[in-house]
Amino acid sequence: MADLLDDEHLEAGTQPDLRVMLDAQRQTCPVARTPDGAVTLLAHADVRAAALDPETFSSAVSAHRALPNSLDGEEHRAYRRLIDAYLTEAEVAAQEPQCRAHAAAIVAALPRGATVRTVLDIGTPFAVRVQSTWLGWPSEIEQELVDWVADNREATRSGERARMAEVAERFDAIISRLLDARRDGSLDDVTARLMNDRVDGRPLEHAEIVSILRNWTAGDLASLAACVGVIVHHLATDVALQSHLRQLVADGRVGDFEDAVEEILRIDDPFVSNRRVATRDVVVGKELIAAGSRVVLNWTAANRDPDAFAEPDAFNPADHAGNNLVFGVGPHVCPGRALTLMELRVIIWELLARTSRITMSHERGPVRELPPVSGWAKVPIVLDPA
Ligand code: HEM
Repeated sequence: MADLLDDEHLEAGTQPDLRVMLDAQRQTCPVARTPDGAVTLLAHADVRAAALDPETFSSAVSAHRALPNSLDGEEHRAYRRLIDAYLTEAEVAAQEPQCRAHAAAIVAALPRGATVRTVLDIGTPFAVRVQSTWLGWPSEIEQELVDWVADNREATRSGERARMAEVAERFDAIISRLLDARRDGSLDDVTARLMNDRVDGRPLEHAEIVSILRNWTAGDLASLAACVGVIVHHLATDVALQSHLRQLVADGRVGDFEDAVEEILRIDDPFVSNRRVATRDVVVGKELIAAGSRVVLNWTAANRDPDAFAEPDAFNPADHAGNNLVFGVGPHVCPGRALTLMELRVIIWELLARTSRITMSHERGPVRELPPVSGWAKVPIVLDPA
């Protein structure tokens, strides 16, 4: 399979920065219409208000039922109760040792003084390994998942429905195989626990289990890898920020470190948008959005709105945390936030603790993702020994 995360058609310095495009669009046209009639909300106040008003902005965006993403109201709450139980503070804390072990092994194996590909050599293997271990999936499946992440990214970027459907089916087949391996009750892990879980007093159906697992892994493997790319790029290009984070490591300030991670992701949010559908005619800004219109909540644009963040590019976790929308807001707010922040803290912490300096490689430049994806496709760095 082609190594799409490192393909040569992406050349340094030739990619547009989606953030620059979104910043300009938000300034001139915060409620933007696309030729196919969809409406994109770009201003922080509009995105936040829509996410907090699920009665007007429903998540039932397609005939396809995605759990819990596409549900509304009481039905959504029932599935969220089930899902949230897997992602509590205690569950996340229990995952930290395995995350640390994966992070340590990945960082130890990286060369010092030579170019390292952040997304490919650090972000992707880390994402696949920590999610697989969390769910109890065997390590033999890792390469299949890495290939799948790359294919899914390309299919999403192409926007071709047939291609996206083929990739989605492939993922369902992987999950079905994992479920089959647990039917005899011999395995006791998060996947097996989910198979025996109940919603509204009845067992989950096969399709429901597949859907939940798809939403825990499918998008999030790529998102986690992308987040690593964004954070490492920030550190490698901002000496003061890197020494600030190194100091947090030296002082053992775990909470401040996670706040820093979330703030860096606000400045360059790789998880761009989610969809809604208007259930009634509604006016946003000066624009009438007709009932039935598809609506896109653009988190990346909202997170850089000067009306919410006086200096959007400034690193200021204390002032910006209250308005940070990296993990969304409202009933669909990301249930994986605590897990994600722990995982990102552990890998970046390990990277800083085991090196004395992280700089951008002089051999190759960084390459941004192609819109509509954001963040970095390639972040070539050099690690100096500790
Ligand atoms: C890697 C970084 C991640 C980012 C930036 C992120 C961001 C988000 C955002 C913005 C939403 C809100 C969606 C909406 O309002 O429609 C969301 C929802 C969701 N996230 Fe995450 N997420 C990440 C990782 C994860 C992980 C690791 C998991 C699971 C373990 C996860 C599971 C979910 C689920 C199930 C939903 C849907 C919640 C619902 O509809 O009620 N996310 N995420």
